[in-house]
Amino acid sequence: MNMYNKGSGLALFTIIFLSISNFVNAQYYPHNDSINYKENYRGQYHFSPRSEWMNDINGLVYQGGKYHMIYQWGNKIRHGGYATSHDLLHWKDQGVALIPQNSFLPPDAKRNVSGNEVYSGSAVVVSGETAMKITGSEKEAIIAIYTGTGKGTCLAWSNNNGKTWQDYQGNPVGNLTDDAIPRDPCVFWHEPSSKWILAIYENGTTFYGSSDLIQWDYLSNINFGYECPDMFQLPLDGDENNMKWVLLDANGSYLVGEFDGTTFRKDESQQTFMMDVGPDFYAAQTFPMGNLPNNDPRIIQIAWMDHWNGGIGEIVWERNATFPVSLGLKTLNEQIRITRNPINEISTIYENTKVWDSQLIKVGTNLLKGVHSKKFELSLEFDLTGSTALNLGIKVANRYIIYDLYNKTLLSNELLPDDANHISIKLLVDWGQLEVFGNEGTFSYTQQFAFSPDHDNIELFSDGDIQLISMEFHELARTW
Ligand code: FRU
Repeated sequence: MNMYNKGSGLALFTIIFLSISNFVNAQYYPHNDSINYKENYRGQYHFSPRSEWMNDINGLVYQGGKYHMIYQWGNKIRHGGYATSHDLLHWKDQGVALIPQNSFLPPDAKRNVSGNEVYSGSAVVVSGETAMKITGSEKEAIIAIYTGTGKGTCLAWSNNNGKTWQDYQGNPVGNLTDDAIPRDPCVFWHEPSSKWILAIYENGTTFYGSSDLIQWDYLSNINFGYECPDMFQLPLDGDENNMKWVLLDANGSYLVGEFDGTTFRKDESQQTFMMDVGPDFYAAQTFPMGNLPNNDPRIIQIAWMDHWNGGIGEIVWERNATFPVSLGLKTLNEQIRITRNPINEISTIYENTKVWDSQLIKVGTNLLKGVHSKKFELSLEFDLTGSTALNLGIKVANRYIIYDLYNKTLLSNELLPDDANHISIKLLVDWGQLEVFGNEGTFSYTQQFAFSPDHDNIELFSDGDIQLISMEFHELARTW
């Protein structure tokens, strides 16, 4: 072979390679690769879109050996942003997967789904006959159920592990609309009645049933909820023989009760609570029941950290997701409460662990002196018995997190000591995110927060004596 041939072989190879890689890249509209996730306020272990705006979490599903997340992307016109992860901690933003008819992206971004905009929805995994009817093949497929505005409830699918997404030819499958209501379909499989259930934001929440995800029949309506319903079953106090249904809305307000395949009935004595009392928790979604690998029974939730007041000064991207939590139900003062606890997998990104012994904290003691970090988990437990302190606080950069012992409030929201008169507090702090969990997750507070970027001091203080039971600090690794 002469030089010329070698060269043209290489050129041909390059052309083929480029067109294959173009073809692969063309599946998702890409973000600008030069964005490095190191901007001020950019969460280092919280998911955020590489560029542009994100809001609701949609289409959380485990399939083909990885976790998939579709999310509301694009400020002016909503699209389906798409990210994948192997461990729920390290996410790769794949780009924009669902591109609606009114997209603002350049013409080479193929408008591949129905509706003027892609509004929120959910996803499930199917195979066999159900897959056949939607995709034309029995192969396992992810089905994303979304609101195509101006069109209705629509399906998009992928049967190659999320590599490409197609719109269902028969869209819409339900809820024809001129506008954007009804919207936000949440679909799950209801085992006892062997059918799919769709809960949608429509006069509160309306339920539909289906055997194939295509033909939907009206079941019932409940006067509860504003946007983005989510629904799942959890054991009460860990008792798998006492499963309860939970219905929540975008605000995190939730009902606990029974669902018989047609109607949701709230337990009579049960009050309506918020599962998060912070300012920036919205449009949470869970992986479908029974969808996690290795028969993992957890209900894992990710929400949007919303910040309605114009954000914290993020540049290049806007808003982010919360850290994934595992949900539970716990009886507390004769009411059933949701518990939210960061998933255990967080321990795989622990770095620089420090542990303190039980000791009396006095005015002027700062056990955290010399600890510097902008991305960490800090867990503390106190015994309030005999305490002379009225305020106990942690200062993270420019932010005070105060427990008021007189009013028994954390960040001005009730956190009562347990039967042993103890309180526990766990903080997740990231460059622009604050999540505070109290008493095994019965307290949850989510906030997108502008920590002063060059300030990494942490302080523990009190205005009197208080008994520390334990304190543990873990720096957290960057997951990008
Ligand atoms: C909630 C919401 C949804 C809607 C989506 C549009 O944040 O208003 O009801 O589907 O955002 O992005």
